Formats: sequence, structure tokens, C-alpha cells
Amino acid sequence: MPLNGKVLIVDDDSYVCATMEALLKNEGHELIFASSGAEGQAKALAERPDVILLDVMMPEMDGYEVCRRLKADPATAAIPVLLVTALTERKERLKGIEAGANDYLTKPIDAQDLRLRVRNAIYTRKLYDQLQQSFEQLKELEALRDNLTHMIVHDMRSSLGSVLGFAQLLKASAKNKLDEREANFLNKVERNTNLLLDMVISLLDISRLEAGQMPLRMNPCNMYDLARAAIQPLEALLGSRTIDVQRPEPPITVVCDIDLTRRVVANLVGNAIKYTGDDGLIQVHFEALPQAVKVSVTDNGPGIPREQHKRIFEKFSQARTEQRSLGVGLGLAFCKLAVEAHHGSIGVESDVGKGSTFWFILPEKPSETAGNGVKAT
Ligand SMILES: Nc1ncnc2c1ncn2[C@@H]1O[C@H](COP(=O)(O)OP(=O)(O)OP(=O)(O)O)[C@@H](O)[C@H]1O
Ligand SMILES: [Mg+2]
Repeated sequence: MPLNGKVLIVDDDSYVCATMEALLKNEGHELIFASSGAEGQAKALAERPDVILLDVMMPEMDGYEVCRRLKADPATAAIPVLLVTALTERKERLKGIEAGANDYLTKPIDAQDLRLRVRNAIYTRKLYDQLQQSFEQLKELEALRDNLTHMIVHDMRSSLGSVLGFAQLLKASAKNKLDEREANFLNKVERNTNLLLDMVISLLDISRLEAGQMPLRMNPCNMYDLARAAIQPLEALLGSRTIDVQRPEPPITVVCDIDLTRRVVANLVGNAIKYTGDDGLIQVHFEALPQAVKVSVTDNGPGIPREQHKRIFEKFSQARTEQRSLGVGLGLAFCKLAVEAHHGSIGVESDVGKGSTFWFILPEKPSETAGNGVKAT
């Protein structure tokens, strides 16, 4: 990597500028000069140098202030600033660091010191540029992949919808003509197509929530009724497990997107059913908080190691435990996005062998920006 670059020298003393020019001239740098703090700030913005040598003692705007302003502006924040000062006191050095300076040069300037520090600063700057470039490329690739996935998933939804529709038609019309084995095949087609369709719908919802393109339809609703409606279709999966839904007194009403919130509860309860054994006990609990409601789903299942609590809310992420995961890892990512779209929060308290409590908090009333995009981690 070439270690020469564009150097901006900001100093009101033309003698210092000339000295630096002489010391740096054989290094292959392009030198630019500014004779005041304000001019230095303007040139930093216009010329985007690789490093700035900034005098501290200048009239009007001193070096600390220029440095603070450069670091506060995203356009210039990444340019390394070397403060050049005769002040060597600790207090002054700390002031410079506080202002965001990257390094120090003391006057009178030592030629070797100057050359090496400028070279190091340029090296750091170029590394930063390379990183930034790779990051931008990665972001572009990610966007491309997301678009492609979105397109495929979108088209899959209509095809799967028609597979399901025809399977159901066949089931209805061939009802009495199929033997047990054939009927079983058809049921499997139906069940697996439904699973795929659920996955495709989750993926589409997640990308819409991430892009802030899922408008929330906010309506007041009774949380207990909402939870009951969410749980009812899952009752067939309970087997010998027990579910206990506490009825809050007085009733709790929240203004939320009823469909999304119902699906959040369904996901949490669905997980509790999936991941607990035959003796599973699942409890749904509501708590009225100041201007918010907390909904908790507790189970006596295997629990989740603490170090995995954060990652299970990421897309396609599943806990690494003895227990096999029984899905694709989209449910909690959807819940997190849906709750955050309401400006709420979601979390888990759990430990191996101690069951799990998944909870979410929704504000009682929506804020104006509810529904804006939140990026999944
Ligand atoms: N109640 C629970 N008890 C134990 N582990 C759980 C529980 N809920 C979630 N997990 C763990 O967190 C992981 C992520 O859950 P999530 O709901 O996102 O995905 P999934 O259930 O695997 O698939 P999907 O919900 O997309 O069908 C699960 O795979 C499981 O390992
Ligand atoms: Mg799940």
C-alpha cells in the first residue's frame, strides 16, 4: 500500500508551514495549506485529505475547536488529525484527546518524528478506506441477495398456494376413492405445503417489516381476547401439555396491530408447545405497566443457555442445545421486528433445565412513528 497521500497543514504561522513543507517534500505527499482554523475546516471538507496537521494555538478558532468540528462532521470524522503543539502538559494533551485528535506532534518539530507519524496516519486512513470500500461492496451484495431472495420467495408463494389449492381439491373430489395409504400421502402433501407456505409468508413479512413497508393497522384491543384467539388454533398441538392463560383484572386494552400482535403471541406459545415435553406446562401472563403492557409466555421446557439468548432472535438462528430445533428459525425474528415496529421490546429469561419465559412489552398507545422499518440483526 503506498504510504504517501494528501496532507493538509493548518497553521497561522507561515514559517511553520514552510518548515513542514521542507521536511515532507521528499516523501511524495501532496501538500495543501490553510492559515486559519476556519480555512482548515473548509479545506478538509473540500479536499478530503488523508491526514491533517493541525496547529493548536491559532487566533479566533483554536486547534481543539477545529478538531472537535471535524470529528463531529461525518464527512471529515475519519480523517486522522495530528495536533501540532508546543504545549506538552498532560492537561493540554487530554484536551486534545477529548477533542478527538488521533496523535500529537510537539514543537519544535523533529523531522523523523513528523515523517513517521504522517506516514502512519496515512496508512491508518488507507486501511480505513479499504475497509469502508469492502463494507460498501458487502452492503451492495447483501441488497442484491435480498432482492433476489425476495423475488424467489414472492413467486414461490403463488406457486405453493396453487399446489395447496389443487391438493385440497383432489382430496375433496377423490375422498372416497383413495385407500388409507393414498389419503395419507395427500395429507402429507397438504401439511408440508402448508409448512412451506408459512415459511414463505414469514420471510416476506420479515423483509417488509425490515424495509418499513408493513403499515400497522392500529386498533384498540383486549389483550386477553387477542391471546385466546392466538392460542385457539394451537390447541390441537397441545397433546398432554397444559396451557393456562391468566385473565387480567381489570382488563387490559392496548392500541396495536391486532393481526401482527396475535401472530407474536402465536409464535411464542407455538414455540413453548414445540419445545416442551409431554408434561409441558405453559402459562400466559399479562402485566399492566405504566403506559404499557407486558405479556409473558412461560414454559417448563429445556431452557436456553444464556449466551444464546441474543442470537435466537436473529433470522434463521436456532439455539444450539441437545434438543433438536423444530423449525427454520424465523419465528422469533418475526416477533422481534413486529414488536419493535410498535416501539416495544422483547426478550427472554431462561437457563438450561429451568424453562423459559419469553416476554414482550407494547406501549399502550402507539407513537407517531410506529411501523417504521427496523433492521433485523
Ligand atoms: N420456548 C422455548 N424453549 C426452548 N427453546 C426455544 C423456545 N423458543 C425458542 N427456542 C429456541 O430458539 C430458536 C429460535 O426460535 P424461532 O421461533 O425463531 O425458530 P424455530 O421455532 O426454530 O422456527 P420457526 O419459528 O421459524 O418455525 C428455536 O429453534 C429453539 O432452539
Ligand atoms: Mg418458532
